[in-house]
Amino acid sequence: MSLSTPPWRQAQLEALLELSLALGGPREEADLVEELVHRAVGLLDARRGLVVALSDQGGLSSWAAVNWPGSPEEFLVACSRYPGGLEVGLFPGSELALPCQQIMVAAGSWQGQWVLLVAVADRETRGGQGTFAPEDLPFLRSLALVAASAVASSRALAEEKRRRRALEEENRSLRGDFGDFIAESPAMRRVLELARRVAPLEVSVLLRGESGTGKEKVARLLHQLSPRAGGPFVPINCAAVPESLLEAELFGIERGVATGVEARIGKLEVAQGGTLFLDEVGDLSPNLQAKLLRVLQERTLERVGGRREVRVDVRVVAATHRDLETMLARGEFRQDLYYRLRVVELRLPPLRQRPEDIPRLIQHFLQRFAAQMGKGQVRLEREAWQLLLAYDYPGNVRELEHLVEASLALAEANEVRREDVLLAMGSSAPVAPLGGTLEEVVKGHVLRTLERLQGNKKEAAKALGVDRTTLYRMLKRWNAT
Ligand SMILES: Nc1ncnc2c1ncn2[C@@H]1O[C@H](COP(=O)(O)OP(=O)(O)OP(=O)(O)O)[C@@H](O)[C@H]1O
Ligand SMILES: [Mg+2]
Repeated sequence: MSLSTPPWRQAQLEALLELSLALGGPREEADLVEELVHRAVGLLDARRGLVVALSDQGGLSSWAAVNWPGSPEEFLVACSRYPGGLEVGLFPGSELALPCQQIMVAAGSWQGQWVLLVAVADRETRGGQGTFAPEDLPFLRSLALVAASAVASSRALAEEKRRRRALEEENRSLRGDFGDFIAESPAMRRVLELARRVAPLEVSVLLRGESGTGKEKVARLLHQLSPRAGGPFVPINCAAVPESLLEAELFGIERGVATGVEARIGKLEVAQGGTLFLDEVGDLSPNLQAKLLRVLQERTLERVGGRREVRVDVRVVAATHRDLETMLARGEFRQDLYYRLRVVELRLPPLRQRPEDIPRLIQHFLQRFAAQMGKGQVRLEREAWQLLLAYDYPGNVRELEHLVEASLALAEANEVRREDVLLAMGSSAPVAPLGGTLEEVVKGHVLRTLERLQGNKKEAAKALGVDRTTLYRMLKRWNAT
């Protein structure tokens, strides 16, 4: 700085330096614009000030004003009348159609594009109105340029953030990840994609799929991704509750229907504002099918023995592993109810048709159960891993889940070994001993399965993929009942 630098010049340079520092950090555009207008007004002793930031398309992006007599839009229009734009200038107010004495304007550009306009008006001096000096013009221009680069970098940062978020979102959907919902296989990713699309809609969804394929898991996901996520998710298993109780369970009951009966609200009412998950809907009796249909059509329900009608605001997601179409043909399931429940149908493929999901499911459950059992980091021996990968999981994800849990429970220390998995499979040898007849092999497999399921024949039949009477017949033949 030469000795001849006048003091006002020195002060301006310091002010500029300070402004560059103040605007230099990562800040929101609106914030920058606000700060700029206050600084400009203060540094130039102006009574009024206006900063208008322009979008890339030349429109108004954001603005901030101090005592400005007009709107930012009017100002933009007035400025745009100047040929070649209004880079910098000192005008009487009348020239911009504004009720002020003198206006000074400067535009700030960044990389060849206009980013903002700064205007100050009516200089304030001690004891009356003063005027801006010609030296003030380059100063205002410098302010505008510094601010323009700050606004431009703020926008670049926001854009970068937006892009990163979009990329993360895209990666997530490519992986098919959704919280702890695992979908690596193309088949499952398609299901997930559809689920994400229909979740926000209020339509009824019917979930089809073998036992253990994740129907309830998807039902919960549909709820979580819907506008009803803040409301309750209420599951009811139509096959698990005896018909005589199911009606009250679903629709509720009014007091005094039978002696000593307390009033109780049903699951349909518990689910108000949320989602009702009708599991095993194929097991609903014709009587209850008719009642349910009425509720879905009228959106109101009457409790058992009740006289009052209750409005029902519930989204229904139903599931079944039954062949509803055959049931329709036989007249065992109402067609009108079928169409009402099946506005959208999602079919969950069995695990054997999506082996790509198996590795991550194993890891997922391993982690979860290790944490639950307080085992810390758990390792899978290579052979144990191969055994788990090769298994065909007739009971689908639920079977895999139990198998991993049991293997882990049997494992010593922090390593799951081949023996642990074999033991968990309820077998000490992976293949039947050589020389066994087919019947012996089948018998061994059936009995081991039964043992693994603690003698539960219904579950065993499910796991073996035969119906229950077949299983009974086999057991009788081997005197194994
Ligand atoms: N894609 C998945 N990712 C993670 N866990 C899953 C997935 N699918 C299913 N599971 C888990 O597997 C188990 C069985 O799933 P779920 O209960 O949803 O199956 P389901 O089809 O309703 O079975 P069922 O017909 O026997 O009632 C649950 O513990 C669930 O959390
Ligand atoms: Mg289920």
